[in-house]
Amino acid sequence: MYVLGIETSCDETGVAIYHSQQGLIKDFLYSQIAMHNDYGGVVPELASRDHVRKLIPLIRQCLKESQLTSADINGVAYTAGPGLMGALLVGAVTARSLAWTWQIPAIAVHHMEGHLLAPMLEVNPPAMPFVALLISGGHTLLIQVEDVGNYKLLGESLDDAAGEAFDKTAKMLGLGYPGGPKLSKLAEQGSPQLKFPRPMTDRPGLNFSFSGLKTFTMNALNATGKTDQDKANIAAAFQEAVADTLSIKCKRALQQTGLKRLVVAGGVSANQHIRATLTEMIMKEHSEIYFPRPEFCTDNGAMIAYAGCQRLLAGQHQDLEIHTRPRWPVNELPNC
Ligand code: KG4
Ligand code: ZN
Repeated sequence: MYVLGIETSCDETGVAIYHSQQGLIKDFLYSQIAMHNDYGGVVPELASRDHVRKLIPLIRQCLKESQLTSADINGVAYTAGPGLMGALLVGAVTARSLAWTWQIPAIAVHHMEGHLLAPMLEVNPPAMPFVALLISGGHTLLIQVEDVGNYKLLGESLDDAAGEAFDKTAKMLGLGYPGGPKLSKLAEQGSPQLKFPRPMTDRPGLNFSFSGLKTFTMNALNATGKTDQDKANIAAAFQEAVADTLSIKCKRALQQTGLKRLVVAGGVSANQHIRATLTEMIMKEHSEIYFPRPEFCTDNGAMIAYAGCQRLLAGQHQDLEIHTRPRWPVNELPNC
């Protein structure tokens, strides 16, 4: 079964084809970063218009380079939320129209379920159950995953998401958008001499709060941030604080659930320091850790095609009405 996957929830147009037995056939990504860079962040209306421009050519290219035609495709999966309303609508309307024309099912995919299942595209995928840490620009979630669609929310961010904290801190340090990768590059030149707090680790529970780290960064900048080296040191200290906080909470989640497998996904999971810190903790815990390859940590069509394929195999697809949900709690998803 071939499933075409379409991702347009934010600033990347992603298209991929996944086959239920052969695995990932092809995936293409067009990033809008250069366009939004001039504005210091994503401009929703520009994002929607650019998806309109790029989506159909990318779908054509994906079919062509997969040596497939529309007649080979068995379902069209698209990100239905959460995300930017206008951007979501472009993907939803395109996917639903193609499905209607090709007379095949359309499958509405939850963006965070896409991230959560991205490690399943790797050669050595994790077995379920596992604990998933999802760290993206809009969400920080700890989820107990029993099966596809069987998700228990263990903890979440009470304010800024991890990626949002990276982006806002990067902005304070005078770095461009998206801040996460730029801050992480700067941190390589620094040493974490300053001790940033590890928020909410001194009390029980699995929720996160990253917004206080911004204030800490601002104070550190005012006190010491005069030279490039000072800024690199602040970046390193910030990054270490986020990594340690995530590690402490993941360890706690594994202990609380009794599970021995951790999956880490979403844009921030591309961060090398965070990957190394979590891997070190997992080794000490005699547990296993799984990440997507770096290009599937951030938004992509492959994870949507994969998630859509699992839902289609479970007999789930949409009626003729088009729905998108800018906000969509992951624990409202049906089981597979
Ligand atoms: O998953 P994603 O591509 O989009 C959302 O679903 O939000 O995540 C984007 C977020 C941005 O905040 C970006 O700065 C962050 O992931 N990010 C990183 C890195 N690469 C992307 N944060 C830290 N280090 C990175 N290497
Ligand atoms: Zn995402």
